[in-house]
Amino acid sequence: MTESLTPAQISELLLLPYLNHAVRMYESGYASRDDIDAGMRFGCGYPAGPLATVDERGVTAVRDGLAARYAETGDHLHQPADLLERLAAEGRGLADEASGGAAEAPRLRHQIAKVGVVGTGTMASGIAQVFAQRGYDVVYVGRGDDKVAGVRAGIEKALDKAVAKGKLDEPGKAEVLARLTGSTSREDLADVDIVVEAIAEELSVKLELFADLDRICKPAAILATTTSSLPITECAKATSRPEMVIGMHFFNPAPVMKLVEVVTTAQTAPEVDETTRALCAEVGKVAVSCSDRSGFIVNALLFPYLNDAVKLHESGVPIETIDAAIKEQAGFPMGPFALLDVVGNDVSLAIQRELHHEFQERGFEPAALLEQVVAEGRLGRKTGQGFHDYA
Ligand code: CAA
Repeated sequence: MTESLTPAQISELLLLPYLNHAVRMYESGYASRDDIDAGMRFGCGYPAGPLATVDERGVTAVRDGLAARYAETGDHLHQPADLLERLAAEGRGLADEASGGAAEAPRLRHQIAKVGVVGTGTMASGIAQVFAQRGYDVVYVGRGDDKVAGVRAGIEKALDKAVAKGKLDEPGKAEVLARLTGSTSREDLADVDIVVEAIAEELSVKLELFADLDRICKPAAILATTTSSLPITECAKATSRPEMVIGMHFFNPAPVMKLVEVVTTAQTAPEVDETTRALCAEVGKVAVSCSDRSGFIVNALLFPYLNDAVKLHESGVPIETIDAAIKEQAGFPMGPFALLDVVGNDVSLAIQRELHHEFQERGFEPAALLEQVVAEGRLGRKTGQGFHDYA
């Protein structure tokens, strides 16, 4: 039966639970309405945020669509959020809810001139590029000369593309490159004002790094992590300055996606939070605020939807049909399978497992096929094969 679904039906099946989940996130007070919407617009390139989409479609229509689905599945994720029920009964929209007023623009409470980046993967390289392009001196640290050289080569290639498109000239490119210093020694981070780490997503590895950064970096330095799945509170505990530790979660590709989730722990100092948000604005990013909980705003909303897409495919709908339906009907820049392949299926599976663990929702259980592609080494673009073939 699923084989005969229309593109509109496919899109509805995947989007309704996503919208419901966003309403529940707002209802729970985890993040503001504006930050939830900005998160999905600037983190994933969606044409509108989920809460604005609920209003655009009409609260009652969304509630009714979910109620019909819930009657079929009995899955709590399809049960209309209490807030949807209330607003539908009152004939109001989410925009009618009190917003808390416009917040003042954050200011830099610490001087930030020199930035350290730890890691040499896609995210680290993209983050180093972002800061250097916005005029900051950047020291990036990797484990070997070849990895450090790889970051520089990758950034050079990205800048060459910008030159070819007429967005940058050769002197401009040379200036950006001159601001970047690669190193294989963490000791070179001694005088940076902030470090952003983007190393392996393994807690023991991060804890060792944070203890070392605490030893090496000057006391006034902010220590930031771009982890998407590990507790920042634990990283903070590994240091003697938990008030200086914060999450700065960039999105892939970092030079393009405008969002940074600024994640505070119970111990993060308010000035560190403010400086970090101001720094995001300085480098042309949009900051949203949230606390240290699995998935933060965007991944908590994004990955269950990607996982649902894999389950829909398991039920017989072709990958290409789903990708095309989402692009065409929802206007998302990529279909779910194309995006899974960009993020990496191993990373996606790890995030989905965390979300399942944190929220204990039956419907968040990772799709069997996601487990399978990872077990087969089909990790996505980085291995040449994922849900799509890139060979
Ligand atoms: N690095 C640098 N620049 C890149 C790039 C990359 N990897 N990929 C694309 N670009 C640039 C292009 O050069 C182009 O630049 P100009 O506008 O200056 O010409 C621009 O981005 C647009 O690219 P294209 O026209 O080639 O392609 P597009 O319009 O399809 O856009 C995209 C590409 C921006 C990636 C778009 O498809 C998109 O927004 N996709 C959604 C990505 C997404 O959802 N990311 C979040 C993943 S979840 C995550 O990151 C969190 C986590 O913890 C895992």
